[in-house]
Amino acid sequence: MGWNSWNVYGDDIDEEKILRTADAIIDSGMRDAGWEYVMLDDGWQKIRGSRFLNELDYDPEKFPRGISYLADHMHERGLKLGIYSGPGVETCAGYTGSGGHEREDAELFASWGVDHLKYDSCCWPGKGGQDVIELHRTMSEALKATGRDIVLHVCHCGWDDVWEWAREAGGHHWRIGQDICDDFDLPGHRESYYFDVLDMIDRGVGLEEYSGPGGWNDFDMLVVNLNGEGALVGDGATPEEYRTHFSMWAILSSPLIIGSDLTRMDGYTIETLTNTEVIALNQDPLGRQAARVRKDGDLEVFAKPLANGDQGVALLNRGPTDAEMEVAWQEDLGLDAAAAVVRDLWAHRDLGVSTGRFATTVRSHEATILRVTPQTSG
Ligand code: GLA
Repeated sequence: MGWNSWNVYGDDIDEEKILRTADAIIDSGMRDAGWEYVMLDDGWQKIRGSRFLNELDYDPEKFPRGISYLADHMHERGLKLGIYSGPGVETCAGYTGSGGHEREDAELFASWGVDHLKYDSCCWPGKGGQDVIELHRTMSEALKATGRDIVLHVCHCGWDDVWEWAREAGGHHWRIGQDICDDFDLPGHRESYYFDVLDMIDRGVGLEEYSGPGGWNDFDMLVVNLNGEGALVGDGATPEEYRTHFSMWAILSSPLIIGSDLTRMDGYTIETLTNTEVIALNQDPLGRQAARVRKDGDLEVFAKPLANGDQGVALLNRGPTDAEMEVAWQEDLGLDAAAAVVRDLWAHRDLGVSTGRFATTVRSHEATILRVTPQTSG
C-alpha cells in the first residue's frame, strides 16, 4: 500500500510535492490505516536522454537534498520510499534508464535507502520475448545482491502474459494491463490503449491463480480523487464510483497504490481510503484474489476466501440503474453452512444471520462489500 507520483503529477515532481504528500498520508490517518510506500515514478532523474550518453543521477533542481534525504525522511516517519527505472537506455518518458547498468543502479538505489523499485519495460524495444524476462531477472538479482530489502515491481503493462513469468523472474507485483485512465466506464477506450476501471477488473478475471503471497497481480494505480485533474487521460469519476474502484482493487488483492493529490482530499475520500475493514480484505494473509463467482449481465458477484474461514464478497452493479442483487452461500461461495452472519463493510454494520442467501439493492456503479461468516452447526 502506498502512493505513486505518476497519476497526478506525471514527470513534474519535486521534493516539496513528495514531502507534502508524506505529511498528508500521516495527517489524514492513511499511514495508520496501512499506507506506507511513497513512490517516485518517472521524472526524478537528472537528464532526459539515453544511458549511452549519461550517468544515472537525480535532478538536483527538483531534489536539492537528494534521494537519500527523502528516504531518511520517510523512514523517520514510519514510511518507505520507492523509485522508478527501466531496462531500456531510456525510460518511458525519455529519461536515463538502467539498460546495461543494473548492478550499479541497484547499488545506487540501495545506498540511498530505497525500499521499492518500479522497473518499467514499456520502454524496451520489441516489448517482449525472452529478452524482457531476462532483463527483469537481472535487475532482481542485482537488487538481491545489495542485501537491502527492496520490493520489485515488474512493470510490463500486461504484455507477454507477464503474470506467468514475473514471479519467477523475481517480481513481487506486476501490472496486468496497460495504463489505467481516470474513468469508471468508457467503452472503447481500451482499444486505444487506456483501461478504465471496469476494463481493468475484466482483465483480472481468470488470473486469480497467479496472485498470492510474495507476488501479486497489480491492477495499476488507483485513480480515486483524481477528478479528471491529474496527469492521466480521462474525465474523472464520481466519488461513489471511486469508492467502488477502491473496494474492487481491495477484494482483488491488488497492490493499493493511490495516485492522486493527497493534500486535496474531502471527507468522503479520506473515509474511502481509510476504511480498515475493506483494507483488511486486501491485506488478508491467505492472499487470495477474489474470483467472479456469478455474472448476470451487468450484475457481478466476486468472492474471496479469507484466512479465518470468512468470505469477502463484492456485489458489483456495473449497470445504469439500481438493481436487486444476491449471493447464495452454497451455489456462489461453496459454503457448507446453511446460515451465515453478514457484515456490510461500508455501513460498518452487522446485518444479522441470513439463511441460504443474502439479497440487497445495489445502486448503479456501486459495490456492496460484505464479510460473510459461516455459522457452524451447534
Ligand atoms: C508507463 C507506465 C506508467 C508510468 C510511465 C512513466 O506508461 O505504465 O505507469 O510509469 O510509464 O513514464
